[in-house]
Amino acid sequence: MGKNLTRKILEAHLAKPSGMRPGEEIFLKVDQTLTHDINAVMTYLAFEAVGLERTQVECSVSYLDHNLLYLDHKTPDDHIYLQSVAKRYGVHVSRPGNGICHAVHMARFGKPGKLSMGGDSHTPHGGAIGMLCIGVGGMDVATAMTGVPMRLKMPEVIKVNLTGRLKPGCNAKEVVLEMLRRTGIKGGLGKVFEYVGPGAAALEVGERATITNMGAEMGATTSIFPADWQVRRFLKAQDREEDYIELLPDEDAEYDGEVEINLSGLEPLCACPHQPDNVKPLREVEKKKVQQVFIGSCTNTSYSDVAKAALVLKGRHVHEDVSCTCAVSSKQIYRQLMKDGYVEMLLDAGVRLLEIACGPCCAIGQSPASEGVAVRTSNRNFKGRAGNPTAEIYLVSPESAAATAIMGTFASAEDILGDEVAKLADIHDPEHFPVDDSMIIKPLEGDEAKRVDIVRGPNIQPLPVPEPPAQNLRVPVSLKTVDNITTDDITPASAEFSSMRSNIPLMSKYCYHRYDPEFAERARAMGQSIIIGGENYGQGSSREHAAINPMYLGVRAVIAKSIARIHKGNLVNHGIIPMIFENPDDYDNIEKGDELEVHDLLDQMQTKAVEIRNVTKNVTFKVRLELSHSELEVISCGGQLRYLKKQLEKKAAQEGNHE
Ligand code: F3S
Repeated sequence: MGKNLTRKILEAHLAKPSGMRPGEEIFLKVDQTLTHDINAVMTYLAFEAVGLERTQVECSVSYLDHNLLYLDHKTPDDHIYLQSVAKRYGVHVSRPGNGICHAVHMARFGKPGKLSMGGDSHTPHGGAIGMLCIGVGGMDVATAMTGVPMRLKMPEVIKVNLTGRLKPGCNAKEVVLEMLRRTGIKGGLGKVFEYVGPGAAALEVGERATITNMGAEMGATTSIFPADWQVRRFLKAQDREEDYIELLPDEDAEYDGEVEINLSGLEPLCACPHQPDNVKPLREVEKKKVQQVFIGSCTNTSYSDVAKAALVLKGRHVHEDVSCTCAVSSKQIYRQLMKDGYVEMLLDAGVRLLEIACGPCCAIGQSPASEGVAVRTSNRNFKGRAGNPTAEIYLVSPESAAATAIMGTFASAEDILGDEVAKLADIHDPEHFPVDDSMIIKPLEGDEAKRVDIVRGPNIQPLPVPEPPAQNLRVPVSLKTVDNITTDDITPASAEFSSMRSNIPLMSKYCYHRYDPEFAERARAMGQSIIIGGENYGQGSSREHAAINPMYLGVRAVIAKSIARIHKGNLVNHGIIPMIFENPDDYDNIEKGDELEVHDLLDQMQTKAVEIRNVTKNVTFKVRLELSHSELEVISCGGQLRYLKKQLEKKAAQEGNHE
């Protein structure tokens, strides 16, 4: 049997021989890394701490794109640090205003067949050009930058066979919402979705990116499309045709599962509050009064997306009760939209054009009103994601968002345009984008790089490093959560909170702030503690602060029914032991404040089965550690930074012996 595309790329990057059976741990040589401003300070502090002179991968890029509201000194402190540390260590910087990391990275740095690790859960965006792009925590990015092979659980590869053609008024968003409707938010765990078939071949790169980007909402390791003529066309439009290589699955490629979607059968869909898999046909959504529409985010502001939204709005006006904003994903797309008259259409219709940045997607501006109904083209609709937990967020395509902005309630492009909706099918990504890399700062070389002063304003505080676990533990439960806790619940976004991410002593005060405002103080007073979680604990954004802050507050373990992939990695990296209830019913027998006791923890950990006594309830229960051998080593060392330093010392000693 032939090989699928994912396997081909993984095989080409194996750092150690492997049978590559699903579930097996594999080690990979990474080609590219990506970070963004609100997660990256910790990454570069960690990289500085290991003491290497320069990033060891082909290309590392630091994007300043999320928080461009300089409310006070904190974010500019972060940005200046990030610019200086990048110059010192061989990292490119994409300056504020150049665009959102995933859109810019795919357009200007991505290459088919390469393996990229990004400190953001939507890194899979780049899968649209046949690149394998995996979202990880910031410490993992720092590790990749040292050249130490990355560990990954070999995923199952699922063939998603697309047939038919999207109808005008339907967007690639409907494809990924249909996937979410079918598989749910945990349906992609341990899987790569590989999109193939005649329907996939017809999708342009911008459309493919909506699908690969939002595959993160299914918990997938990543998603990918073949590198075919559409990718060649895209790279040619970026003046980078030489970076194109054709990369397809073999005709008789083997897969671990298969999904069929007929694009012609799709209709406009909508993810209703408060999870992205709560998907309904848009026409069935209750016709509530909509307060806010946001056309933006990395997911759904390709050139065609915004142009189609503008065409729906052309000659019409945003409803007087709706606040409609648009944030385009990159400067080059914005320029092309201006050139082709679409920006004018948006302005004429009363759309407020925002800065080229993530902004409202992660609650940096444009929070909805109290109990407001917000309609967004972004990828997450968790409670509070937009900055107001009383609001409801609905996720739709740009065409549907534009129609909704006009009507003041849920509507599709066809509701507005009638038969004229067909003209939306004439819009395609341009044959040539305005290429201008003047907003990308190249790293310095040699002695010039070594002379760079790294600027640390008062917001840049040291990276806290956990202690190795003790053999015996007797600690209280500081928090018991419900299912599907998101990293937004643990460490909220927003302009204010995001600017605290390089200052853990300050930010940890707001840990679980919206979910349980007393948590931080309680955990601190307890000294050490354990958190109890439900299903899918830590889903959503890759932000490792959802592990660093609890660690800083003394949380030693999380015991949950299940833990989301990236968050589990972050817990390990920051020395919190992720434990899974052997019997999920035991969750019901634990309360906040209960005292838990573990004997011989270090020895028990090696068996991946740990017995815990609930001293308060006088019962014993079992948990398992779904951890690889190397993850156990990381925990035992006291987190990834200590582990990494040991690895590099070992490597240096081996190299010394060979000389
Ligand atoms: Fe930014 Fe939202 Fe994408 S925060 S990277 S636009 S998911």
